[in-house]
Amino acid sequence: MGKITARYSQLVMPNDLNNIGTLFGGKMVSWMDISAGKAARRFLRGSDAAGAVTKAIDKMVFSEPVYGGEWVNFMATIGSVGTTSFTIDIEATAEDESGQSRPVCKACFTFVAVKKGDDGKWHKVPHGKQE
Ligand SMILES: CC(C)(COP(=O)(O)OP(=O)(O)OC[C@H]1O[C@@H](n2cnc3c(N)ncnc32)[C@H](O)[C@@H]1OP(=O)(O)O)[C@@H](O)C(=O)NCCC(=O)NCCS
Repeated sequence: MGKITARYSQLVMPNDLNNIGTLFGGKMVSWMDISAGKAARRFLRGSDAAGAVTKAIDKMVFSEPVYGGEWVNFMATIGSVGTTSFTIDIEATAEDESGQSRPVCKACFTFVAVKKGDDGKWHKVPHGKQE
């Protein structure tokens, strides 16, 4: 079976920009987290886990600025798989008005599968999945 993937896109609006007029990095992180969450949901189908939370964000690199009016396209791919955790590699490309795409950011997210316990708190659980 191939790797589980998910695609997600966002239009860069004026409210998404920083003080120098390019995409605010925190927005990019947030959109990547959503992209990772989409792949995570697909990965966890059929699992006992109720969902998964972000445990770590590693190797984040912003390689080029992104401008207002561009689309950012995200590709999320499930990477390595542990007992309760799994990684998701995210690649973001920006698409300009002419349709040209360029890589702008990438990162590796670690998610942990969780379930609510009788104590009302969220606890890690084995997701029972393999690569
Ligand atoms: C997720 C959570 C329930 C995990 O509980 P925990 O007792 O800290 O779990 P552990 O330290 O045993 O780690 C759980 C898994 O994450 C992995 N892990 C821990 N720290 C890590 C790190 N810095 N980077 C990558 N993986 C890590 C462990 O190796 C383990 O993986 P495995 O079960 O596949 O072997 C808890 O840390 C938590 O609730 N964190 C807050 C999550 C959150 O609020 N995220 C933001 C909103 S989504």
